[in-house]
Amino acid sequence: MFLVTGATGNVGSEVVRHLRRLDVPVRAFSRKGLPRTDGALPVPGDLNDPASVASALDGVRGIFLLPGYQRLPETLARCADAGVERVVLLSSSSVPGGERSNAVTRYMKESEEAVEASGLPWTFIRPCAFAANALQWKEQLAAGDVIRAPFAHVRQATLDPYDIGAVAALALTSPGHEGKAYTLSGPESLLPEERVEILGDVLGRKLTFVGQPDDEARAEMSAQMPAAYVDAFFRFYVDGTLDESKVLPTVEQLTGRSPRTFRTWASEHADAFA
Ligand SMILES: NC(=O)c1ccc[n+]([C@@H]2O[C@H](COP(=O)([O-])OP(=O)(O)OC[C@H]3O[C@@H](n4cnc5c(N)ncnc54)[C@H](OP(=O)(O)O)[C@@H]3O)[C@@H](O)[C@H]2O)c1
Repeated sequence: MFLVTGATGNVGSEVVRHLRRLDVPVRAFSRKGLPRTDGALPVPGDLNDPASVASALDGVRGIFLLPGYQRLPETLARCADAGVERVVLLSSSSVPGGERSNAVTRYMKESEEAVEASGLPWTFIRPCAFAANALQWKEQLAAGDVIRAPFAHVRQATLDPYDIGAVAALALTSPGHEGKAYTLSGPESLLPEERVEILGDVLGRKLTFVGQPDDEARAEMSAQMPAAYVDAFFRFYVDGTLDESKVLPTVEQLTGRSPRTFRTWASEHADAFA
């Protein structure tokens, strides 16, 4: 039995999908307890509450864990008590060489450190920015054909959560991944404008990209997330402390096939923009 946290989200639903393809039993953990993927048992619970996670652990061999939740050391102690044999932690490509003074990097590092300190066998998955971040454009696409987005000059080799799910399922179910940290990227390095163009092509719409001035981006992001995280993203993408433009071989090395393109992600998720 495997427990997948964040199971209704972009990444967790793909972890569930890949595990179910391997025909292993899966519990799909989220607050609402509604799996997007068939064949997994939905389990409602709160990652900030170790007792809630513990109640889903009966018979669980491996857990896929999201980072950044409260009381993680206690949750991991409950995992150890329940006989969990593997933890696959979703982390971030900002961790290697990243500064603890950056709030996003810090919560990722602290999550990794808690997992290491737990004594449980672990694998860390450190993805770069997700292709699924384009879902942030849904509202603008519903209102018209113009996408305003921040960090116009920043190239990212965005990663399809499908590929994160594939690597996580491998790390949970096959040997040789213990104590490994995998930094993952997608297959091509694209500017936001290029992703908008591909998305428009897939949707059959002529979209126009407008790069947001930094002050407009900061004001918009500040309405959506704490100031420390806004600062963190500005340090990544304006100060240039994080380079997610490199195409890495990791997904292909682990899965035996190329990571999915942004075009494939957009085609698979075109309905989300309808
Ligand atoms: N976006 C990126 O580019 C990027 C890059 C590197 C790492 N990451 C990390 O990846 C994580 C997952 O991303 P995602 O796109 O898959 O997120 P997402 O689509 O927003 O999904 C979040 C999932 O977590 C569940 N959840 C939220 N709060 C919870 C709680 N307190 N207890 C239990 N379940 C909870 C949600 O379901 P319910 O609402 O039903 O609880 C949902 O299943 C991010 O949070 C971030 O830490 C993101």
